Amino acid sequence: AAKPLVLSIESSCDETAMAVIDGTGEIVANVVATQIDFHARFGGVVPEIASRKHTEAVVGVFEEAMAQAGAHFGCKTLLVSDLDCVGVTQGPGLVGALVVGIAFAKGLAAAAGIPLVGVNHLEGHLYANLFETPDLEPPFVASLVSGGHTMLVHVRGWGDYEVLGETIDDAVGEAFDKVAKALGLGYPGGPVISRLAEQGDPRAVAFPRAMLHSHDYRFSLSGLKTAVITYIEAENAAGRPIDLPDLAASFQAAVIDVQVAKALTAVEECDVDDFCVGGGVAANPALRAAYRERLGERGVRVTVPPMNACTDNAAMIALVALRDYHAGRLVPLSMDGDPNMSL
Ligand code: KG4
Ligand code: ZN
Repeated sequence: AAKPLVLSIESSCDETAMAVIDGTGEIVANVVATQIDFHARFGGVVPEIASRKHTEAVVGVFEEAMAQAGAHFGCKTLLVSDLDCVGVTQGPGLVGALVVGIAFAKGLAAAAGIPLVGVNHLEGHLYANLFETPDLEPPFVASLVSGGHTMLVHVRGWGDYEVLGETIDDAVGEAFDKVAKALGLGYPGGPVISRLAEQGDPRAVAFPRAMLHSHDYRFSLSGLKTAVITYIEAENAAGRPIDLPDLAASFQAAVIDVQVAKALTAVEECDVDDFCVGGGVAANPALRAAYRERLGERGVRVTVPPMNACTDNAAMIALVALRDYHAGRLVPLSMDGDPNMSL
């Protein structure tokens, strides 16, 4: 096996995930245990449940990751003594969820006598683009769009980030989730709404494009969410049936128009030739297509992570952990989770 071998752990929200990366940068194990089914009936992630489910899953996910890595190298399982470093998501995220991965990572680091690395979850989402475009090099502009974040970032170098602007209220993924909840479509909302939208007319209902002309990189999603809910209530009160595909497509188009317009301004203002996307919403097919088309025609190369690397996973955390291990950027065993960690 190409040393070093780094185990990475991700438990910031509702996925318990671990991966192993080797010294060549190859992901040799990648395990994701999702808790989605346990949160679905509540229409969103319940922090208390997330924490408990991480505790239940963490040992099994670890054993599976070690076995996968072992199989990759032709043996039954990797041993703790084979590991050279453990990297764990330090934040941002739910504090009671983060702490489970962090406690496990600390125990492993202490038991194996290996160093610990703390990874920023958002930086992980950014690095996921390397799975698609291995030669991606700063400077570039990135959009991070997930259930908890909506931001445009000027990546001047790896580790050198200028946040251009963020949402002032809801995150994009949160808007998908809340609209889905209002329609009784369950959690998470993104996948079900984007599937419905494929059959709908994006011009059927004119929803507001909030902050489209704000001349900055701030976003606002709560007004759009309210507009959709108001529309649903009005249609229900009038006894008119709601065309779900049309509604989904119209809502999604309002989101995408603003995301793409601000991304266009950002790549021009930062004068970059590369643009990439990270976070769960990056899995949205219409958003991916809109970026490719509208930025592509300006000569900007658009990278989006492979579908399974958009939502939370530990492979993206492993990329950052390996970098930090090589750079000697370690954290002490007294490290704490940081629920509000910024880029
Ligand atoms: O990155 P992620 O797994 O977790 C956070 O760090 O938040 O993102 C989850 C979010 C959810 O809000 C989910 O609805 C959204 O990503 N999402 C999507 C799609 N797939 C997942 N949103 C829009 N379209 C999708 N296809
Ligand atoms: Zn995430």
